[in-house]
Amino acid sequence: MAVRTAQSKEAGRVPLPLTSRTDRWWIKPLLTVIVLGFFALYGMFRAFENQYFEFGPYLAPFYSPHLPIHLNLFGWNVSPAIYILIFPLSFRLTCYYYRLAYYRAFFWDPPACAIAEPAKRKNYTGERRFPLILQNIHRYAFYAAVVIFLILAYDTVRSFFWDDGFHVGLGSVIFVVNIIPLAMYTFSCHSFRHLIGGKVNCYSCTLASRTRYGIWKQVSFLNARHSLYAWVSLFSVLIADLYVRFVAAGAIQDFRFF
Ligand code: FES
Repeated sequence: MAVRTAQSKEAGRVPLPLTSRTDRWWIKPLLTVIVLGFFALYGMFRAFENQYFEFGPYLAPFYSPHLPIHLNLFGWNVSPAIYILIFPLSFRLTCYYYRLAYYRAFFWDPPACAIAEPAKRKNYTGERRFPLILQNIHRYAFYAAVVIFLILAYDTVRSFFWDDGFHVGLGSVIFVVNIIPLAMYTFSCHSFRHLIGGKVNCYSCTLASRTRYGIWKQVSFLNARHSLYAWVSLFSVLIADLYVRFVAAGAIQDFRFF
């Protein structure tokens, strides 16, 4: 049960979030701030870096697809990663799970269950008005994410084919390991679950509705673990991108199994 002290109200200051909880409830939001904050900084760095994104058949996920677009703004070569990033970023930013995570960790809205918010927000309209109404683009961001996923899956297959033939390098293995949680994350999305199982009045009436029901049950199974896939896929993308960056920059050598 959340409580606030009378003194903090009298002092007229923003009261600290007070609670009768005695566990370390603050660890989760703190970790969220650290991990998401780091990922945001890394994403920005990579988006602007505009180099070290390709080595042999390896293409860094942040720079995929390899678009033949070369924008030049006032002498500055705009990195293609900036306009590629818009799609996966809008998918992750509007994801129902990530909303929960960053509303709690960054906005303290509230920071955890049974913890008071730091201050009452005036004119709070939730996600019904600008800017948070933009969260509703999630279903469309999902379609873009599926396209990006298919491109990354193609990159994964392509990573085995070098100029001198078929090889298995550590980079290809990392790409394969990356694509699995990415698939789990993309296809455990709430929007996909609704797309598969929503707007059906009778699941047993036709072959099509029975098929949809079968797929919906599988998606629901994945959906229950959506938060896990959200975190694992975040790290797997990061590791795949870092690996290509280091190999392309010559900082490490690609280990070839055969
Ligand atoms: Fe998380 Fe759709 S709800 S990706």
